[in-house]
Amino acid sequence: MNDLDDLVSQAERDFAAAGAPAELEDAKARYTGKAGRLTDLLKGMAALAPDEKKTRGAQINQAKQRIEALLTARRQALADAELAAQLQAERLDVTLPGRQRGAGGLHPVSRTMARVEAIFASMGFDVADGPEIETDWMSFTALNNPENHPARSMQDTFYVDMQDEAGRWLNLRPHTSPMQIRYAQAHARRHAGAAHMPDIRVIAPGRTYRVDSDATHSPMFHQVEGLWVGEAVSFKDLKAVYLDFVRAFFETDDVTLRFRPSYFPFTEPSAEIDVQFGSGPLAGRWLEISGAGQVHPQVIRHMGMDPERHIGFAFGSGLDRLAMLRYGVADLRQFFDGDLRFLAQFQ
Ligand code: DAH
Repeated sequence: MNDLDDLVSQAERDFAAAGAPAELEDAKARYTGKAGRLTDLLKGMAALAPDEKKTRGAQINQAKQRIEALLTARRQALADAELAAQLQAERLDVTLPGRQRGAGGLHPVSRTMARVEAIFASMGFDVADGPEIETDWMSFTALNNPENHPARSMQDTFYVDMQDEAGRWLNLRPHTSPMQIRYAQAHARRHAGAAHMPDIRVIAPGRTYRVDSDATHSPMFHQVEGLWVGEAVSFKDLKAVYLDFVRAFFETDDVTLRFRPSYFPFTEPSAEIDVQFGSGPLAGRWLEISGAGQVHPQVIRHMGMDPERHIGFAFGSGLDRLAMLRYGVADLRQFFDGDLRFLAQFQ
């Protein structure tokens, strides 16, 4: 074994001992670097005779090539080992179940609203939507509320720091009843001068607001307004329509309605509608679900129609209340707390 073979095997051992790329590059410098041993050998050739130089030069070059081949092989081995270690460390267990994306769903009150809309639509009712910020005239005056009616007071109605043309504060509508006026006015305008005006048959579900908060009242709640006005609409139509609705909504014929005399400024006569289930957890109890009545002649006038000719009924039902009864929820506030554990049960 000559000195060059010796050098090559030393390099091989050194490279093998390098456990990381940086160590390997240090080892490489010791052989082929500027002050490396091969470089020293090449420098040492200066003193040799020309033909000795030739053979020695060829031998050194050969040794250099072998060292470089060893280096390349060791580099590759280190890179392979590093990749293998990384793959091991970042290994994924593809047999684990994936993280599922929550599917989301409709809020129980939204579901109730959709259900009410579908039932009334099947009975030929249009579905209307309107503003939640209302004028004093729409919320109260048009609905025949006297100037000093307590509903206007700050204790019941939220006011908005904005005035209408009459200089009156706008309000967050305390009921959906202004939609009776808005819808009927547009209808009456559309059919002005016609020999026959088609009946108005509409429901208007939506958000309503009142200064009120306990287990059965929330400052924001939902109502559904109903209106049927024509030339021969009577209280019996109200009874029939509402009974059909309640049966469809609760999916039972085992339900009784009671029309209890009441008072609203915009209806005369007025009634509260109570339901009683023949079976189930609420069986036998009378539960109030709606106000209703025959539309007051003054309101018919404000709708742009003639009370001598047009007559009808209206109702305003608590949508949240309907949802509570249908789903058996005791505290209204649960609908609006945003607790997913509660809400997810309705999906
Ligand atoms: N607007 C009434 C309320 O919020 C409910 C109501 C009663 C609506 C009688 C009506 C009705 O349309 O005829 O208390």
